[in-house]
Amino acid sequence: MGQDVVAKLRERLWKKLLELTIPYYDKHRTGDTISRMTNDTAILKGLVSEHVTGFINGVISMVGAIIILLLLDWKMTLIMLAAIPVTAAVIIPLGRTMLKLSRSLQDETAGFTTILNQVLSEIRLVKASNAESREFVTGQRSIQSLLRLGIREGKIQAFIGPIISFVMMGLMVLIIGYGGMRVSTGALSAGDLVAFILYLVQIILPMNQITMFFTQMQKAVGATERIVSILNDDQENVHEGKTLTNAAQTIRLEHVYFAYTEGEEVLKDVSFTLESGKVTAVVGPSGGGKTTLFSIIERFYIPQSGKMMIGTDNVQDFSLQSWRSQIGYVPQESPIIAGTIRDNISYGMDREVSDTEIEHAAYMAYADIFINELPDGYATEVGERGMKLSGGQRQRISIARALLRNPGILMLDEATSSLDSQSEVFVQKALQNLMKGRTTLVIAHRLSTVVDADQILFIEKGKITGVGTHQELLRSHTLYQEFANQQLRIADQEEDVSVSVDL
Ligand SMILES: Nc1ncnc2c1ncn2[C@@H]1O[C@H](COP(=O)(O)OP(=O)(O)OP(=O)(O)O)[C@@H](O)[C@H]1O
Ligand SMILES: [Mg+2]
Repeated sequence: MGQDVVAKLRERLWKKLLELTIPYYDKHRTGDTISRMTNDTAILKGLVSEHVTGFINGVISMVGAIIILLLLDWKMTLIMLAAIPVTAAVIIPLGRTMLKLSRSLQDETAGFTTILNQVLSEIRLVKASNAESREFVTGQRSIQSLLRLGIREGKIQAFIGPIISFVMMGLMVLIIGYGGMRVSTGALSAGDLVAFILYLVQIILPMNQITMFFTQMQKAVGATERIVSILNDDQENVHEGKTLTNAAQTIRLEHVYFAYTEGEEVLKDVSFTLESGKVTAVVGPSGGGKTTLFSIIERFYIPQSGKMMIGTDNVQDFSLQSWRSQIGYVPQESPIIAGTIRDNISYGMDREVSDTEIEHAAYMAYADIFINELPDGYATEVGERGMKLSGGQRQRISIARALLRNPGILMLDEATSSLDSQSEVFVQKALQNLMKGRTTLVIAHRLSTVVDADQILFIEKGKITGVGTHQELLRSHTLYQEFANQQLRIADQEEDVSVSVDL
């Protein structure tokens, strides 16, 4: 039963973690959340699987023994019960300390997991920066702090046994003295006194288990506080709302205001229209709010005011699940999950996908050539975070994934890292395949992308300061002019240079 309780809790917590909103993950470090899931639930598991049975057994034998003792000699039993408040007076403060200690211990464990998670996942950066010894010290400090807390916990636990034994032995002396007196006056038979003492042993032994249970329970209470607060945090209900069937409609953002932290608006009064099937390029200085705008459209965050419409409906009315299923998002850094190439292309599809479909998507994404050259083809393991693939290969896998989903709406965060000229051409062509016939929003870093776009939005400091085609903006918007001449042309020139060198 104990194991079952923990499994159920873990399932509930895991479901919750997947449903928590993006702002939760902005606020909490991944290592911390991992530790809540693994270490904190393990404390609870220790309690239910090891101490609960001892506690129940203890209570049964204690209650049984007390009943028999009351029948044997109720006066002596009442004297004996005086031990209960004495024990409680010792155990309650110890329990409180245990609760506080457990809280610090679990926080420290979470901190340690965070360090491990951060350092190990960026091990290349650590090595390249010669930061091994620095990171060792950071981890060591955490380990030492865990050691100190662990020793304090051990001390408390080491105290409990002797204290309980001391109280119980005192009781034994009291009973033998008082009982001996009663035997000498003839009020009690010698046989009854022996029976009494034997039953007393039945109380002393489980008393240890029971107190151990209480202190462990305090520890578990401390450890589960964070779990409880996670379970009570805001969550997304992805299935709530209408189902969006036709995404080939005009999308409008109307007076959207958004701030990550109150008072610091990142998007201010943003309004624009995305015509169905047209390409809109978003450009602007770094930190202007372009990625934020994408997150708002994905509904990772809820804007403070303003709304997003599709056709005549408010997007809020559609379920997150059906809205997101209409969007293909190709982010800048091309995230990859561990598994095979096939798993990665078909990731998130809610139906069986045939090999032909996957191969077709890879073909359209210009990924088939390199995949076929790999020894295991589509069954090649890509390694953690796609470590075994190059940047351009990862991008094309991302594009193939988006193609397979066949979304009505496409959001692209054009990569800034320049690829080699050949991959660049492939990625560019793959993107053109992907954009065909879809409402596309692209964060552009290349002049060629904006020149081809049907509409350009210029975002600076969270405001849209220019809307129009490349030619129109060149004429009317001075900052865009500068931007196009410097930033965008540089990106294109680099590309040209690399092409000519390559040739
Ligand atoms: N999760 C977040 N929490 C708090 N602030 C954030 C968060 N993400 C971005 N910001 C802030 O919001 C502002 C806009 O960031 P955003 O990532 O949207 O810029 P961007 O236009 O995409 O820039 P770039 O071209 O460099 O990618 C920045 O000032 C940034 O510091
Ligand atoms: Mg960005």
